[in-house]
Amino acid sequence: MISYGKQSIDQTDIDAVVQVLKSDWLTQGPAVKTFENDLQKYFGAKHTCVVSNGTAALHLTALALDWQPGDIVITSPITFLATANCIVYAGAIPDFIDIDPNTYTLDPNLAEEKVKFYQSKGKKVKAIIGVDYAGHPCDWNALREIADKYDLQLVNDNCHALGASYFDDKQYAIKYADIITQSYHPVKHLTTGEGGAILTNNPEIDDKVRRLRSHGMTKDPSQLENNDGPWYYEMHEVGYNYRITDFQCALGSSQLKKLNSFVEKRCLIASRYDDSFANIVNLKIPENNDSIDHSYHLYPLQIDFEKCSFTKVQFFEKMKESGINLQIHYIPIHMQPFYRKNYGFQKGDFPVSENFYHKEVSLPIYPDLSNKDVSLVIDSILRIMPT
Ligand SMILES: Cc1ncc(COP(=O)(O)O)c(C=O)c1O
Repeated sequence: MISYGKQSIDQTDIDAVVQVLKSDWLTQGPAVKTFENDLQKYFGAKHTCVVSNGTAALHLTALALDWQPGDIVITSPITFLATANCIVYAGAIPDFIDIDPNTYTLDPNLAEEKVKFYQSKGKKVKAIIGVDYAGHPCDWNALREIADKYDLQLVNDNCHALGASYFDDKQYAIKYADIITQSYHPVKHLTTGEGGAILTNNPEIDDKVRRLRSHGMTKDPSQLENNDGPWYYEMHEVGYNYRITDFQCALGSSQLKKLNSFVEKRCLIASRYDDSFANIVNLKIPENNDSIDHSYHLYPLQIDFEKCSFTKVQFFEKMKESGINLQIHYIPIHMQPFYRKNYGFQKGDFPVSENFYHKEVSLPIYPDLSNKDVSLVIDSILRIMPT
């Protein structure tokens, strides 16, 4: 069965992991720092702290930015649950703004409207989390302008867009956002099994997330109230064990060397899908405009099922019969029972996102997907779709 995403592991990755397994350090050793340095070079941030997964990266972001009960943090409904859940972890109030119907990322005009709406009620939006959905960077120029104008924190949940460019710049993310979070789950552009990172140019944020990654412990003499000896540490705030192992980091460093070629392969698959589906009625291919280079974590195809003789469920079943397991990204978060019950969101609140959800299917896309399998996906869809 062909799935929508999958890791690409070769012998160099296996050798890198085995080397660490044979070393003295399985965790808290030198491979962690090496991976952080490698990420720093690739993404251009001054500080990079690797953690156990992308959700931990978001949680530590919420804590480092000091989101408090009553603070309002806004994001996109079209993202993975973790993007919004981190707001809830901090006790802050999650709110959403609709996506742009072409980029499927936050609509900056609606972001400004939302900020002004809260202002008119005497409330302040504390932060915006932009999500570079599917590998398409947000309109970061516009979001940065809003963040500066209204003094908001700006986070880039960059999990989908490793290797993407914004105005020809692969290091765009740190030039706009105060904090970037990434995930290295196996379906992402590079993998450490489970893993993630927080990237920032702000040394205080980096210092805080490093402490909170490991129980809130510090040995930094400038932070200690006492110092009983070389073994001594103190804890001034509660932290977590969000560490990642050395063998995972060795895998990460090895994978990062191949990130550009992984993205190239994804782009080749995307261009085959584009060419095959661009002129088919009731289908819409993802946008890839002049200001961005998409990195295609996902290939979100829109199908207007209302104009088709089959439902989305039937389409899924027919594709499964051909050996293709599709996925949907995402069910809009405001429609989840937790968010409806606890924050009063309702169906219809974010119509562009809801319409997108009804039409979206994520086609298989990953570097090791063979040409034959891409052809099978294309032929299966063309067979099902009326011409
Ligand atoms: C947009 C987005 N944010 C956050 C996460 C969470 O990352 P992880 O699965 O590594 O915890 C994911 C992963 O699926 C994601 O796609």
